[in-house]
Amino acid sequence: MNVVDINLKEKSYRIYIKRGILNCIGEKLEDIYKGKNVVVITDYNVEKLYLNVLKKSLLDSGFEVNVISIEPGEKSKTLDVLKNVYRDLCKFNIRRNDIIISFGGGVVGDLGGFAAATYLRGIKYIQVPTSILAQVDSSIGGKVAVDLPWGKNLVGNFYHPDAVFIDPDVLSSLKRRFFSDGMSEVIKYGFIRDKSILKALDSYSSREDVLANIEDIIYKCCSIKKQVVEIDEMDLGSRMILNFGHTLGHAIERYYNYDRYSHGEAIAIGMTAITGKTEKMGITKSGTYDYMKFTLDKYGLPTCMPNLDKQSVMNSIALDKKSLSGNILNLIVLKETGKAVIMKVKMPEVENFLF
Ligand code: GLY
Repeated sequence: MNVVDINLKEKSYRIYIKRGILNCIGEKLEDIYKGKNVVVITDYNVEKLYLNVLKKSLLDSGFEVNVISIEPGEKSKTLDVLKNVYRDLCKFNIRRNDIIISFGGGVVGDLGGFAAATYLRGIKYIQVPTSILAQVDSSIGGKVAVDLPWGKNLVGNFYHPDAVFIDPDVLSSLKRRFFSDGMSEVIKYGFIRDKSILKALDSYSSREDVLANIEDIIYKCCSIKKQVVEIDEMDLGSRMILNFGHTLGHAIERYYNYDRYSHGEAIAIGMTAITGKTEKMGITKSGTYDYMKFTLDKYGLPTCMPNLDKQSVMNSIALDKKSLSGNILNLIVLKETGKAVIMKVKMPEVENFLF
């Protein structure tokens, strides 16, 4: 088993990475939670495939289990769905010293985590991420949120789980598109911080190769996230490098009402768009764009900007809470493969970096 410890000023927690760990989460939970009631928040897809395994493990350890299941997909990350979650938490009579398990991909993790952060002014929760994207990124670092009609993650908090349990075996059932979706975040880590991830991805010739090595990949990504989050928990400085490709990516997702591009697909377009531009401007080392395009293509991700209304995308970028301070946008750009920096760009000039 690989473990990564996240050590923050106010809270520390452990990420456990192990094939088959889903079968013994009940046992592991006993170490960190002394109560009886557990609420699992999941979605219909994960429920169908894996809820029985998780539930058995929890029941075998003597926990009482209630389940809240939501429609899969970004469209569930709303205040309306959150309200239904609160309703069910009340219905199950969940108290301050009970615990939530967010069991699913990024949407379930963000929504379940935000429910935990706010219900009764905050109750404990753990993350059991089931997508690559959630296992390498969104389940770690405490960002929890829901979307608003005006943009992604506009209502949220920093609220850390008590533990993260990552079972790479559940990834074998991911549909091709969601496998690629998560690989986009893995590729992002390679370009912003660690070339060795990309070298490994170059050497694999099939999805089976990737899955055979996925524990190592997840461990590397979680270790990078640990380093970044420990230095800048509140995303006020260096943590922003994790948003490489996200300013444009989020705007593209929203532009198509979350129907056309998944998160990973949208950030793949975001990463290539900005790198194409910064390489031409001489900011990024020559050849980086081609290598990025090659890698994203290989993993089935889009790299071409769709034909969209730039002004509408720019309006949405202006609302992106993560990037804007005054009239200045913090854009993440690459110096070279493995080295990202934050560039402060005046809002009117941002368009030149993206289109
Ligand atoms: N997903 C980006 C972050 O956690 O900061």
